[in-house]
Amino acid sequence: MVEEARGTEDVEQRVAALLERMSLEEKIGQMSLVNAGDSYIHDDLAEGLRAGRVGGVLNEVDAGTVNELQRIAVQESRLGIPLLIGRDVIHGFKTVMPIPLGQAATWNPDLVMQGARVAACEAASHGVNWTFAPMIDVCRDPRWGRIAECLGEDPHLTSVLGVAMLRGFQGPDLGRPDAIAACAKHFAGYGAVESGRDYAAANVPENELRNVHLRPFRAAADAGVATLMTSFSEVDGVPATANERLVRRILKDEWAFGGFVVSDWDSVRQLCIHGLTADDRESSREAVTAGVDMEMHGDAYTVHLPQLVRSGEIDERLVDDAVRRILRLKFQLGLFERPYADPADSHPIASEASLATARQAALQSVVLLTNEHRVLPLSRESLRSLAVIGPLADAADEQLGTWVFDGDAGLSVTPLQAIRELAAGRFEVHYLRAMETSRSRDTSAFGEAVALAGQCDATVLFLGEEAILSGEAHCRADISLPGAQAQLVARVREAGKPVVAVILAGRPLTLTDIVDRVDAVLYAWHPGTMGGPAITDLLFGIKSPSGKLPVSFPRMVGQIPIYYSHKNTGKPPTPDSVVHIDDIDPKAQQLSLGMTAFHLDAGYTPLFAFGHGLSYTSFEYTGIRVSSEQIRLGQSFHVHAELRNTGAVAADEVVQLYVRDLVGNVTRPVRELKGFRRVHLDPGQQVVVDFELHTDDLAFYGRDMRLMVEPGEFQAWIGGSSETGLCCAFRVLPPV
Ligand code: BGC
Repeated sequence: MVEEARGTEDVEQRVAALLERMSLEEKIGQMSLVNAGDSYIHDDLAEGLRAGRVGGVLNEVDAGTVNELQRIAVQESRLGIPLLIGRDVIHGFKTVMPIPLGQAATWNPDLVMQGARVAACEAASHGVNWTFAPMIDVCRDPRWGRIAECLGEDPHLTSVLGVAMLRGFQGPDLGRPDAIAACAKHFAGYGAVESGRDYAAANVPENELRNVHLRPFRAAADAGVATLMTSFSEVDGVPATANERLVRRILKDEWAFGGFVVSDWDSVRQLCIHGLTADDRESSREAVTAGVDMEMHGDAYTVHLPQLVRSGEIDERLVDDAVRRILRLKFQLGLFERPYADPADSHPIASEASLATARQAALQSVVLLTNEHRVLPLSRESLRSLAVIGPLADAADEQLGTWVFDGDAGLSVTPLQAIRELAAGRFEVHYLRAMETSRSRDTSAFGEAVALAGQCDATVLFLGEEAILSGEAHCRADISLPGAQAQLVARVREAGKPVVAVILAGRPLTLTDIVDRVDAVLYAWHPGTMGGPAITDLLFGIKSPSGKLPVSFPRMVGQIPIYYSHKNTGKPPTPDSVVHIDDIDPKAQQLSLGMTAFHLDAGYTPLFAFGHGLSYTSFEYTGIRVSSEQIRLGQSFHVHAELRNTGAVAADEVVQLYVRDLVGNVTRPVRELKGFRRVHLDPGQQVVVDFELHTDDLAFYGRDMRLMVEPGEFQAWIGGSSETGLCCAFRVLPPV
């Protein structure tokens, strides 16, 4: 503790001493993040480095080139300040983990942390010292392509997993050679862009912003995330990059965030395109005033800040504060002592341990959505022939998903490869791609697919979306299976044999048209390098599925946003208040159709609820209890239940705790996730799953935007999904 304090003091002294020696231009240089890449150092960049006009470089990952960049900065600039080297290492570097949304389906913070550790070690050995992750935007709109990058719809799940991920990147000590600084993004409200269309406006009232979207950022800030990135979109009329209320007042003043804030790619100059400012000069003034410490790709700061400061329009103390934050991180990373990537520290790429982590993450991320006829698991013993059909069965690059600039598809093991390996000497595997891409409309191979399915004992269809259909700016208005895939399902069904669909996708798809046409659905997201073996283990029951949905699956697009922790409304729907459009009596009057909050054509429930996920075993929850039915405000308490594996196989279950605050100063969601735990149970085994809560965990922002816990009545549920019915009640009493 004492040493840590001394270390901090030491860093602060070094920052202050260096800042003292810096010219205004050199300070502003630190606030500039410049794009590079292709293992090439452009003359302008080299010149900028020598002149101290660059604080960081992004997108160069060749270790030799990175070292040369650092050498120029350290040896040829007046002050010798080393560079931050940033890169989007989002879900792996060479070894690719499942997309973040898939990782969220593991509900396993330790595993998420290990995955980020693997990524950090591989990236650091290439000279990268800063990643633009974790992405912790809460997203309730699967049309948005960037839902692939986030950790789901829930603030608690996102907070816990986001913190795990940033800890994985940053390691126990930022000063270690294998640690990289994390960047929580995109601050804030980006997950709520209108109609799920990237970069669109986000209109989120402050109360919702604080109770939902800001919570993971607060958690990340409290956990010591090194940096934050502002979002591209506007929130309540002010683009995030110029949003003083968000960045300076809430993040820096209210939360006392000590790291620095970087803009998104060129988002300072984009303030002008948004129509907030008239020119780049005004944009840089707005962004610095708002508290954006570093400009990513763009020269608004470099060109205009010197003059803005000299004219007194910007107080130099704002610049000093920004530079202090940036230098602090460089000292914390140990860059002044160790600016170069050292081959001696190099972490082996795609080591056996890293691949094992990727496999485990993929395994736990896959969600068994349906298994009505219990066709899964397939039997290795009795199966004689298997048809493997579909455009994503053997697509080494597609299974990696979005944001894999450095991912090596050569390392991928595809489902087809893994199934063939397992089948060798046991049963026959017949493969037909049937569609060129997931988007193909050409059905000419479908006849062959039906014939193949007819000849084999069972068929596994590998369907979904190619990687390019999700990610930044890759949004969809129709999120059903693209191309002719639904037709392929219908045709293969004609063969009359068991059909399993494995879906690889970057978002929840609307599966209403196909769920009843197949015997089982395994949802595998984009599972990364080791997706093939993981899926194969699940198909054949070597392991039992244990992923749970981190986001609700709509029946149809028109239901969006649909999420479990919605408000009750004054007219909540019930099963008997719902009328379907096809059942409306021709004589019905305006006031006779239920009059509750539902859609005539879609009801009010999702196709699959948040937290849903089946297993090859069955679990029974009983005996939910709260340690005391009367809890004094300011105290801790326990909620627990018994969980028993009542089936025949060993499996993991993700136990979930939900709470409802029945009466609030502002209305509270019908349920909120407050805790979760992955437990492993052998057949017949029973455990008590206990969650400790503090009344602080019940806090929310009220009408005056202050955090509060109100005495009153609460309900708690424990179970295997957000739909669980096992409930108990408790009361929070005012303090004595
Ligand atoms: C994205 C960021 C990303 C940055 C750098 C932007 O387009 O919005 O998430 O970190 O590019 O590549």
